[in-house]
Amino acid sequence: MSGKKIKIGTLIVLRDIGDKMNVLDAINKRKSVRDYLTDEVDEKDIKTIVDAGKKAPKAGPFQITVVTNKELLNKINDHTIEGMKNSGNDFFVERASTPGYNPLYKAPLVIFFSAPDENIFGGLTASVSAENMILTAISLGYGTCYLASPNFAFQTSARDELIKELQLPPNLNPICAVSIGKEGENKFGTPQEEVDNVNFVK
Ligand SMILES: Cc1cc2nc3c(=O)[nH]c(=O)nc-3n(C[C@H](O)[C@H](O)[C@H](O)COP(=O)(O)O)c2cc1C
Repeated sequence: MSGKKIKIGTLIVLRDIGDKMNVLDAINKRKSVRDYLTDEVDEKDIKTIVDAGKKAPKAGPFQITVVTNKELLNKINDHTIEGMKNSGNDFFVERASTPGYNPLYKAPLVIFFSAPDENIFGGLTASVSAENMILTAISLGYGTCYLASPNFAFQTSARDELIKELQLPPNLNPICAVSIGKEGENKFGTPQEEVDNVNFVK
């Protein structure tokens, strides 16, 4: 009987620690995750992540589109490869031709950000919202990657079809996306480098 009590107590303590990962821990833990397990992201966690994105600083209208539909994610993935191959940019052409490369990394959840052209701050607003979501997802135990490559899908002839399937009005332009899920083998992970790009003015 007493053993049971200890077990329950231990579980509560572990959950407590998980819930309390502070923002610096999440920032230090963050890295781009480019391979995901197929496990779906818990609905409650999706809500927590999206709510955090909505609390970011904002300037003007932008749209958050939460996609878990595998068929649509596969379609965007495939058109992204097509767009990258036709981009005329050597880096993207080579990446898109790498065997096994999937620009959406088969993540079970991808959150897309878009904004109307009139919002000159659409890209900035979407990005701060995306980072809030990234850090929240990490604090909940998920891996994430900030993605700009899906924009290539919207430069193909499939643009209108994809915008429609994302249930977006035609005047909204995709800006970036965030892939989220339990981390897999991370085959496409890159080593994190320390960049010297800070100057202090006193
Ligand atoms: C504007 C922007 C666009 C990015 N687009 C992609 C992308 O399309 N695909 C990808 O795998 N990573 C993308 N990244 C992630 C970077 O490659 C990654 O952050 C960088 O290599 C540093 O690695 P780290 O995130 O592991 O620290 C993007 C990052 C930024 C800031």
